[in-house]
Amino acid sequence: MRHRDPAWSPSALGAGAGLPRVAWGKGVYVHDSAGRRYLDASGGPAVFCLGHGNEEVNAAITAQLERIAHGYRYSFTSDPLEELEALITAAAGAAYGAMVFVSGGSEAVESALKIALQYHSARGEPARRRFIARRRSWHGNTLGALAVSDFVARRAPFEGALTEASFVASVNVYRPPAGVAPAALARHAAAELEAEILRVGPGRVAAFIFEPVVGAAGGVVPPPPGYAALVREVCDRHGVLMIADEVMCGSGRCGTWRALEYDGVEPDIFAVAKGLGGGYLPLGAAVYHRRVAEVIDAADGGPLTGHTFTGHTAACAAGVAVQTIVRRDRLVERVAAEGPRLLAALGRELGDLEAVGDIRGRGFFIGVEFVADRATREPFAPALGLAGRVGRAAVEAGLMCYPLSGNVDGVRGDAILLAPPYNATAAELGEIVALTGLAIRTALAALPRG
Ligand SMILES: Cc1ncc(COP(=O)(O)O)c(C=O)c1O
Repeated sequence: MRHRDPAWSPSALGAGAGLPRVAWGKGVYVHDSAGRRYLDASGGPAVFCLGHGNEEVNAAITAQLERIAHGYRYSFTSDPLEELEALITAAAGAAYGAMVFVSGGSEAVESALKIALQYHSARGEPARRRFIARRRSWHGNTLGALAVSDFVARRAPFEGALTEASFVASVNVYRPPAGVAPAALARHAAAELEAEILRVGPGRVAAFIFEPVVGAAGGVVPPPPGYAALVREVCDRHGVLMIADEVMCGSGRCGTWRALEYDGVEPDIFAVAKGLGGGYLPLGAAVYHRRVAEVIDAADGGPLTGHTFTGHTAACAAGVAVQTIVRRDRLVERVAAEGPRLLAALGRELGDLEAVGDIRGRGFFIGVEFVADRATREPFAPALGLAGRVGRAAVEAGLMCYPLSGNVDGVRGDAILLAPPYNATAAELGEIVALTGLAIRTALAALPRG
């Protein structure tokens, strides 16, 4: 049996004809080799926070490459590496001065998990090995990150080889557990986490890992108010570290530089990637709190994780250029201000569609979930492949969005994710809204009847 990841597979977008061949990009637009132009409304998978072809970023990378591509971490430090560390600390908060640079989101999560384990070993609690994660979450494709991810199609071929983890329920106001009122969801979910910690035994739990705003696996799901703070209390009560996976929702995407800043919560460790380097070069980081760093440094002198390309000099130069622009042009503040307007505009454009069940998000991180029945919130039959259909209709209309499926229970559910660049103009955002409406209407009109 083949396990397909329908909305994500190349065939979902290209269906036999193959994918368009990318040629060049400028701002929010990407052009293919056949001369077609696409408005990149999702920034690929929520990556291109400054859009494409940014001349300042390209110039910074080129200048670095002309000097040297990479100074290997055991031989050298570098200006870009130290500048990027300073920019991250300035954006994330003074407590976050320790970090490990990597080449992407999975490595960032993998490093975060290892830092948590190292911390407990350093404290003399090496029995704390278990991670608790949530259903409908995605943390990456490396084996450790996959082991704490709940994305059925992507896990299936590897089941049996993944480290055992605990999963608590997803936390989704639109789809709360039966009998739980939306207003009671935060408390209910925090209690479920605490029960699982007690069941496993607090002395065996290393960390709770979660996406502050769930991305691809849930269709952009912000938490209910107060949830993160309650989880922080639970973790603190039991000596369990809190790891925030901010690979997709972080680095400003949700209108605060750290996604959890919005919730007023400081995690022990957080993972960033995607928007950190804006897609210009592969870049990510696991950033950890001073109190974690102190323990690790005292026992081991530093984190026992990293790779050949940790702190890659040109990648760090890309990150410095991107983060300097984000800061200088006050783009996180712009996302915070414009996000609610974008959400409202999508509401006006899509509100009359019976098949649109929920439009939600934070900042420039928005999900549109489709339902066969608005009243019962019943999803469409997976065999219809609605998300893939919307993705293909969008491509036809000259729009790149991010279709996803399985967000309800791992198999059922269809949604699209929008994540425009932070510097998209009002006119471009308006075009995204209009083309999204067109793509959804076209896909729905073409659904088989009955
Ligand atoms: C929340 C989250 N964590 C981790 C990852 C893995 O990142 P990468 O694909 O860069 O390895 C992703 C990728 O989509 C993600 O969305």
